Amino acid sequence: MTEVVHTPRVFSGIQPSGGLTLGNYLGALKRFAEAQNQGGMETIYCMVDQHAITVWQDPDKLRHATRELAAGFIASGVDPEKSILFNQSQVPGHAQLGWIFNCVARMGWMQRMTQWKDKAGKNQQNASLGLFAYPALMAADILLYHATHVPVGEDQKQHVELTRDIAIKFNHDYGVDFFPVPEPVIEGAGTRVMSLRDGTKKMSKSDPSDMSRINLTDDADTISKKIRKAKTDPEPLPDTAEGLADRPEARNLVNIYAALIDKTPDQAMPELAGMQFGQFKPMLADLAVDRLAPISTEMARLMQDPAEIDRILGRGANRANEIAAPILARTYDIVGMVSSR
Ligand code: AMP
Ligand code: TRP
Repeated sequence: MTEVVHTPRVFSGIQPSGGLTLGNYLGALKRFAEAQNQGGMETIYCMVDQHAITVWQDPDKLRHATRELAAGFIASGVDPEKSILFNQSQVPGHAQLGWIFNCVARMGWMQRMTQWKDKAGKNQQNASLGLFAYPALMAADILLYHATHVPVGEDQKQHVELTRDIAIKFNHDYGVDFFPVPEPVIEGAGTRVMSLRDGTKKMSKSDPSDMSRINLTDDADTISKKIRKAKTDPEPLPDTAEGLADRPEARNLVNIYAALIDKTPDQAMPELAGMQFGQFKPMLADLAVDRLAPISTEMARLMQDPAEIDRILGRGANRANEIAAPILARTYDIVGMVSSR
């Protein structure tokens, strides 16, 4: 019954709904560039503008954020020649397959999504239908390309698991082995970067306090200041990463340090053991500036030529569509939609 041999393929997406943070960089962008450079797998990266409008976006800001996000991808090492880089709304197959998956996914599955519960809050009746259906669109993003590997931060694990459920149910309901069941790839020290003000909260572009996050557009002084002012505790750093278990703020700074030098927290610990924050924080600030300043400089340079960014995204969309169109056509056929081909 196997119709397709699923060649390994990487897909991931980021919403253009505001600036990029160090969390996006360590949890997503940096790893996207690494997956691309490892070779061996096609890498497809998408700016999910249709996801962004599940909460209202100012149109001009959305356009700007999409281009800035593209600049962030490229400045972080995603090469639009090696990877396919595009924005979702230019490839109609996302919305088309998204509809079919709305008819596969169950209300109960969606109601269990923690991000839906968090984002809709107490006022679910007033949230958009799109916000509720969002994980089915995310499943379409991934499965439209028969992607097998989905690098994401920890917070997206549940959505990738839902994607697996949708693939399995579709294959089962139509008696086919058509969609692959993709794997979330959540590896490294940077998959859950926490707020600099509260080690129990995710670093987020929507946090009201700018001191809680490092933005990829922050200059060197701002990055240093934010790290120096980050919340910590009075103890020196322990000998092992295990010793950080009950120290969320300290653990977060060590994780950031480790992720920036491509080590695990355990590998990074020996050089940090016994250090006071008065010594560790300036060291971390220098490292962060060293790694992030070139990215923000490159983003600013790329943003001076928005027309070139639009051309890159247009080319990416054409390449994405070439992969997507036959998969969508076959899906329509499996479901029983009559076509004139
Ligand atoms: P978003 O900005 O919510 O569209 O997220 C885009 C990607 O960045 C997803 O793979 C997220 O899991 C990842 N991400 C966002 N915030 C963080 C964070 N604080 N730590 C690690 N990864 C993150
Ligand atoms: N939901 C993801 C987020 O908010 C973004 C996203 C949309 C995504 N489609 C995707 C991530 C497909 C991975 C694969 O971060």
